[in-house]
Amino acid sequence: MSQKIIEKEYKKKIKLLNEYNRKYYNENAPIITDSEYDKFKKEIIDLEKKNNFLDLKNSPSKSIGFKPSKNFNKVKHKVPMLSLSNAFSEVDLKNFEKKILNFLSQINNSNISYTAEPKIDGISASLIYINGKLKTGLSRGDGKEGEDITSNLVTIKDIPKIILSKDFPEKIDIRGEVFIQNSDFENLKEKFANPRNAASGSLRQKNPADTKKIPLKFIAYTFGFEEGLKVNNQYDYLKKLSEWGFKTNPLNKLIVGIDKLLKNYNEVEKKRASLDFDIDGIVYKVNDFRLQKRLGFVANAPRWAIAHKFSSNKAISEIVDIDIQIGRTGALTPVAKIKPVNIGGVLVSNATLHNEDEINRKDIRVGDTATIERAGDVIPHILSVDTKKRNKNSKKFIFPKNCPSCGSKTIKEFNIITKKKDAVRRCSSEGYDCDKISIEKLKHFVSKEALNIDGFGKKIVESFWKLNLIKFPQDIFKLNFKKIEKLEGWGKLSVENLKYSINEKKRISFERFIYSLGIRHIGLENAKLLSKYFGKFSNFYDLSQNNKFSDLLNIDGIGETQVNSIKNFFSNKMNLIVLNELEKILFIDSTTNIRKKGLLSDKTFLVTGKLDGISRAEIKSLIEENSGTTVSSVSKKLNYLIVGDKPTKRKVFTAKELKIKIIDQVQFLKMLNKTS
Ligand code: IVH
Repeated sequence: MSQKIIEKEYKKKIKLLNEYNRKYYNENAPIITDSEYDKFKKEIIDLEKKNNFLDLKNSPSKSIGFKPSKNFNKVKHKVPMLSLSNAFSEVDLKNFEKKILNFLSQINNSNISYTAEPKIDGISASLIYINGKLKTGLSRGDGKEGEDITSNLVTIKDIPKIILSKDFPEKIDIRGEVFIQNSDFENLKEKFANPRNAASGSLRQKNPADTKKIPLKFIAYTFGFEEGLKVNNQYDYLKKLSEWGFKTNPLNKLIVGIDKLLKNYNEVEKKRASLDFDIDGIVYKVNDFRLQKRLGFVANAPRWAIAHKFSSNKAISEIVDIDIQIGRTGALTPVAKIKPVNIGGVLVSNATLHNEDEINRKDIRVGDTATIERAGDVIPHILSVDTKKRNKNSKKFIFPKNCPSCGSKTIKEFNIITKKKDAVRRCSSEGYDCDKISIEKLKHFVSKEALNIDGFGKKIVESFWKLNLIKFPQDIFKLNFKKIEKLEGWGKLSVENLKYSINEKKRISFERFIYSLGIRHIGLENAKLLSKYFGKFSNFYDLSQNNKFSDLLNIDGIGETQVNSIKNFFSNKMNLIVLNELEKILFIDSTTNIRKKGLLSDKTFLVTGKLDGISRAEIKSLIEENSGTTVSSVSKKLNYLIVGDKPTKRKVFTAKELKIKIIDQVQFLKMLNKTS
């Protein structure tokens, strides 16, 4: 049978299965028996196993049930469920501790202790207990808002429903991982691709009886909000969890120093294959809660924790071709197309080559035999090529000097910080003049952290682009739905859903809006800083008239690189048209309206000189937590200059000239009602 026929057959089967699901779950009127259903499902999975090009999102190997997310109520997490940053090497780990020590302004590293907790690869859940009773169970969702899956979670034996211990907090949100043991997965192999899919699918079943059939386990490891928790470090918390009746990871440890963390990492990695649950690394958390509190968060991960991932799996394959992909910021990324090879259960056919310099350094050529590495969730990459196996006729790979999409020259920029040329080559055309860049800009615009338009994924951007339905972000709000309705794979209902999701996202916070523009070097954090500085859209737009770009250097955290990039953005006429059009369509909330009224609100600060036992970064977080702002130079806009040891004389002098209040560390902490 040809690939096409198999594919057609496969799609037909999945469509039919979805119809069975719809009848069963939505109408409560199954049209086939359970065993017929199971047999049919297995047919699809077998077909996938035999033909690895079959890989539909709605395949039963990836999901079970029918659009379960619509079945659950969405609930906001009182404390967001964050993610963790990753460390892949000893260097990453040392940097992690260095940053902590810098932040805490601590030179001696001998006394930071960490918990080392094997990271189970499952699905996280939040369990809310009030007066010892399990009230609500939520999925992680997008971290801010989860689904109420209480009735499914209560079917898990490991989850205590009532806790009578005297020292159990009155209110607490206990968090941990739901997973399936490998031995239990053996019996479910036919139905799911891997244990993680099995856990996620069964947790979100509409009917709890279906969840109950799957032997799910739960391990607890952290908490969200709490009232009445009487421990002050993570290790004691883990001990308490098990006293209260929760399962905790038997391999959890308390460890001091990076060297010992590495020793433990190697020991656990050796045990990994013999464990009955999948782990993909070890989570390290600063043990002391007081330090955790001081360290706080950056973007959506804590500064006090990191996931040390296990080294990947490697495989050898042949490089069939080298493709050049063009990113949103014009960067040309070479990608090796390789003969498909299975690495750790995943079929890999692409591997990133990073950039031009990397290809030259490793002398990677088409036709080479290469070692490919897949570490954690990151894109596989080429480790090395075997030059001995190389064909005599093989030729060095020549990196394109013109953009493969628009033909513009490609350039390597000079980096003002490293004082070197970038390793990355870029398309020199600006924004929307290059088709590939435009498509990537649109993908960014609709992405999760930007507009977050439900159901408007990368594939849709590409197909709408090809059909000339969208070219600029504003086109998304002027779609020809009549035309879309007639396209293959679309119908009345799906078009209605799309219309709804787009309309729903017309109201947007100013910071998200700035981020969505995809200005180079303006990520989430910088977008936040800019939105605070400008307050509202019109002030930001005014940059195109007043050219006050250098003023932006006053924003702490914004440097020359960012300012140049913003300047570039505003110098492009098309970008201004896009801004104008979007402003007409969207409701961009001003930042000032939602600003908190903290102790330091409307006050600006600058630190000069070394402080005692508190780092710059910590002071900055303290200021921001209390609604103040930090600036990077002394100007009329500055309210307080905080002076430490050996301050910059010029700063103190100018501050005196401008009659700015000069305070020391103690006076500053007093403003926050803190004494030390
Ligand atoms: S702590 C801010 N501890 O890893 C703290 N997470 O990448 C984040 N995970 O969503 C959670 N084992 O699903 C924590 N011992 C452990 C963990 C763990 C597994 C998962 C969890 C989380 C993800 C973060």
